[in-house]
Amino acid sequence: MNKKGFIFDLDGVIVDTAKYHFLAWQQLAKGLGINFTEEENEQLKGVSRVRSLEKILAWGNKTISQELFNDLMGKKNEEYLGYIAEMDESEILPDVPKVLKFLKENKQPISLGSASKNARTILERVHIMSDFDAIVDGNDVTKAKPDPEVFLIAAKEINMKPENCIVFEDSVAGVEAANTANMISIGIGSKTILGHADYVFNDFTEISEDFLKSLIEK
Ligand code: BG6
Ligand code: MG
Repeated sequence: MNKKGFIFDLDGVIVDTAKYHFLAWQQLAKGLGINFTEEENEQLKGVSRVRSLEKILAWGNKTISQELFNDLMGKKNEEYLGYIAEMDESEILPDVPKVLKFLKENKQPISLGSASKNARTILERVHIMSDFDAIVDGNDVTKAKPDPEVFLIAAKEINMKPENCIVFEDSVAGVEAANTANMISIGIGSKTILGHADYVFNDFTEISEDFLKSLIEK
């Protein structure tokens, strides 16, 4: 069989941590007197912690000191880590293990490409760290999605050329990053939001082995 590099985003693709990020940001925004909608939240998905807070402040027309900014980022992460601490395997999204198993059995290299600095903690909590040949996360990059840096490093780590890589992403910024990296982008979520992806599925239960085989043989 051919070889392709399969790169997985983490939050919202492997585990449903997107809801915890939302809850933690919402709590913080409320404290600042800022309200943001689920629609605006879509723009925070895949985006780094720093950039997320900058966006929220811009929506609320607020300027704050660097000291308070750093303080709030710390608080958001503490709140988020509180949710993470409660996680276990049951939070892995449906059929993700099945897809990972299929790729492993067919000797396809697998990489993680996440913006999160908490990626390793989460992978440990849900016990799937060993499924990845490489892990690239928010600690390894200088430029946040939609910049393609995280995926380019993820491809390099598994010795694959970008054009031979396939990215699973739930965020607008992440799909854009994969496209810019010249990789095949697979959106996990709604077609309305991820229409710029090469393929879109609601979740992994809709991804068949035949489809994966066709990507590998392409
Ligand atoms: C992304 C999430 O995976 O990681 C974003 O989609 C989040 O919502 C970003 O802001 C950074 O995560 P963390 O865990 O480093 O704050
Ligand atoms: Mg995501």
